[in-house]
Amino acid sequence: MTPAPPDPGRLVRETFVRHVEHHAVIGSTNDRAREMAAEAADRRPRLIVADRQTAGRGRGTKRWWTGPGSLAFSLLVDLESFGVERSRQSMVALAAGIAVVETLAPALEGIPLGLHWPNDVYAQGRKLAGILIESAARRLHVVGIGINTNNTLRDAPPELSDAAVTLLDLTAREHDHTEILVGFLTRFERLLSELAHAPKRVGRKANALCLQRGRFLTVAHGGRTASGVCEGIAPDGALLLKTDSGPKRFHSGTLREPPDRGQPLRG
Ligand code: BTN
Repeated sequence: MTPAPPDPGRLVRETFVRHVEHHAVIGSTNDRAREMAAEAADRRPRLIVADRQTAGRGRGTKRWWTGPGSLAFSLLVDLESFGVERSRQSMVALAAGIAVVETLAPALEGIPLGLHWPNDVYAQGRKLAGILIESAARRLHVVGIGINTNNTLRDAPPELSDAAVTLLDLTAREHDHTEILVGFLTRFERLLSELAHAPKRVGRKANALCLQRGRFLTVAHGGRTASGVCEGIAPDGALLLKTDSGPKRFHSGTLREPPDRGQPLRG
């Protein structure tokens, strides 16, 4: 299905973005945003939205499936202009995840959804949205988000059928992309301001939405791995693990195994 294209006029009127670019097909909206970071005449927030990506990227070497009907977008933003200190920038992915959860929750009519550290939104044990934050030229940042909206897993590569979920498959109805973008951008702006002025509130919200508490996780970071029971997210945004050698905290890293497969529940 081809979704109605986003309404750039409404996005500029109702949110903080000052420029919207829509593509029917593009390689990756994150790549386009990084190009823009180097070329743009000013540092005003820009939004790039695509109906289809031919080279959508996830974290590390992962690819992102942009199934027909899904929503892929990247926000090019100057975090410093929001007052977000460099030391807090690792919490921007949490802020984006919270904004996605808060935006989609009303549409899910009671189906619980939450955060999978470091950067995913899950519902019913499957991935509904992924977030990829990258730094770009001139100290700008790209916040790239893929949401499985009006796509269906019937079109997905077989390896995703147990791992992903879409709004359409969960609710049996279509969802308006402009509405989702306005909802996300409004909430994200508020969360960036909280990150600047009251960062612990963002950490506490992320902790309340953490779906991995009590799960046994293996986190890889800086060439080392640590395994332990997840104790949630600290107010400063760190993932908390209770390991055999004591408590450990991670501000970044990668989960060693898919969090939704073969994870014994403990604690
Ligand atoms: C992940 O799951 O590891 C992150 C996925 C991020 C996907 C989005 S889709 C829009 C933007 N453009 C990309 O190429 N990737 C991000």
